[in-house]
Amino acid sequence: MNPFELTIEEVEARRILAIRTAVLRPHFSASRLAHFPGDEDETTHHFAALGPRSNAGEGQKPEVLAIVSYYQSTLTVDGSEESAVQLRGMAVAPSVQRRGIGGHLLTITLGRLPLLYPTARWVWCNARQSAIPFYQNQGFEIFGDPFSIPEIGPHRRMRRKIPLAIAS
Ligand SMILES: CC(C)(COP(=O)(O)OP(=O)(O)OC[C@H]1O[C@@H](n2cnc3c(N)ncnc32)[C@H](O)[C@@H]1OP(=O)(O)O)[C@@H](O)C(=O)NCCC(=O)NCCS
Repeated sequence: MNPFELTIEEVEARRILAIRTAVLRPHFSASRLAHFPGDEDETTHHFAALGPRSNAGEGQKPEVLAIVSYYQSTLTVDGSEESAVQLRGMAVAPSVQRRGIGGHLLTITLGRLPLLYPTARWVWCNARQSAIPFYQNQGFEIFGDPFSIPEIGPHRRMRRKIPLAIAS
């Protein structure tokens, strides 16, 4: 599957909860979905990479193959608090991981941040140890001390600058 053939769209929170739960919270019980605080806020933006439309039957929605969400936030840099965006819930369906889909979704959506959050200077995330090289490929750098999230494992904080919006 060519990542460039996928459709990347902003979607409502309810469209991403099933894949978020399956990939990122597989220890949740069957009836518990992985809601995050702020999921329904107006300033939150959820994006999905959707499978080729030709695979979707009449009236059926295309399959959600990968997701990422952005939340308005702040980040303390060199002692001063700066406007920022938190990236959360980055996940790719297990059957299509390591085929460039997550990277493509991240590249496209990071490019939209200057318009979605015009005052934000940074995008940051709590990265799983295993995903650190993935974020480094996208220009993120590690900051702060290692920490662990119960039932999920070791993490590092990572950040990168948001490029300035290009004036049209
Ligand atoms: C991490 C994740 C989002 C990456 O998306 P992806 O579509 O699999 O990644 P891509 O194919 O775009 O990029 C893969 C590249 O990232 C780097 N990478 C290194 N370790 C990696 C890892 N454990 N998982 C994915 N990519 C990794 C490599 O450079 C890799 O290229 P390679 O496969 O040629 O070695 C996806 O694998 C996933 O959902 N994993 C499980 C959930 C998770 O860890 N989410 C992140 C939470 S912080």
